[in-house]
Amino acid sequence: MGIQLGNGGRKHWLLLLLLGLAFFAGLMTSLFLNIQSCKEVFRDRSAEVEDPVLLLKSQAEPDLKSLPSDLFTFHYTCSEAAPLAEVRSMLLNEIFDGVSPFEGFPPPHVAPFLRKQRIKGWGSKDKVFDDLLKEVRPQLIVELGTFLGASAIHMANISQSMKLQTLILCIDDFRGWPGFRHTFKDIHQEHGQAMLYHQFLQNVIATNLTHTILPVPFSTTSAIAKLCDLGIQADMIEVDAAHDFHSAWADINWAWALLRPGVGIMFGHDYYLRADNRGVGRAVHLFARLKGLHVQPHGSHWILRRPSLSAARSSVVSDPNHVRSGKRNRRWQETSFKYP
Ligand SMILES: C[S@@+](CC[C@H](N)C(=O)[O-])C[C@H]1O[C@@H](n2cnc3c(N)ncnc32)[C@H](O)[C@@H]1O
Repeated sequence: MGIQLGNGGRKHWLLLLLLGLAFFAGLMTSLFLNIQSCKEVFRDRSAEVEDPVLLLKSQAEPDLKSLPSDLFTFHYTCSEAAPLAEVRSMLLNEIFDGVSPFEGFPPPHVAPFLRKQRIKGWGSKDKVFDDLLKEVRPQLIVELGTFLGASAIHMANISQSMKLQTLILCIDDFRGWPGFRHTFKDIHQEHGQAMLYHQFLQNVIATNLTHTILPVPFSTTSAIAKLCDLGIQADMIEVDAAHDFHSAWADINWAWALLRPGVGIMFGHDYYLRADNRGVGRAVHLFARLKGLHVQPHGSHWILRRPSLSAARSSVVSDPNHVRSGKRNRRWQETSFKYP
């Protein structure tokens, strides 16, 4: 005997059918999403475990549009270029009340605590210095991160041997880093202040380089801002201060504004350093990607060349508006980047 459904009964079945379908669709969607997120996790993990280069690339390729624009905004319009011959005296007046920091050094209360020379650096005599000085023949070098002056002194010696009259500005707060005293106990400390700056001055005096090297003893960002305000332009910038991603990112971005248009070269140490999940390498590659530059590895250093003026005009700049205007589709610049 067939079941006779009235109008009300048919509606009831139809409703049940629709509910069933909706439930099934929901189930399938959630299953699909779960599979997708598992894939993501596995993709990330496999990159991390198997290929650090891929990891670095993927980390340097975030969806730029979705990031707060402040992360990419480094507004520096530096003053008009100051004449090179005036840079030294400008800085002496601005920072040292017009008196050279080397004058009358060391004072009697400091002298007993200094060694005639106490120089220690890391990769501070690598071939990259020789190669780049020969390529650029710089008149002005800015160094971010000097410590006891090993790399600055090495560059000054090279420039002398090339008969150049290079001025090297050494930006460093001369505080080292927390814990540096484990290895540098011999550097005297008073009231919690290690005599790093004093020993640096002493090293420069002992190597007869006071006419070539001038300290700018402040934090990197504040010192760069001052140089930019004064219109001081560098032919070469060495980045070797703090080695976490954010510090390197800020240093590279701010300092880029100091490079002399068309000719400048920026380079830095610890390209492969694992600290902060390869923070230095990530910062360099993200910057290169935004600017459309090529990262050239050189030993444990990285090098970025400023494009020529005309190329610079058409290149990508680290400005979110440029990202939005569709100019960011510059391809990842392949390098011979290899991790040891
Ligand atoms: C690795 S050492 C530099 C070594 C030097 N380039 C050499 O090869 O001889 C790093 C230096 O950066 C300085 N430094 C780190 N962060 C800094 C910051 N935010 N501002 C100024 N100096 C900083 C430290 O005081 C330290 O002397």
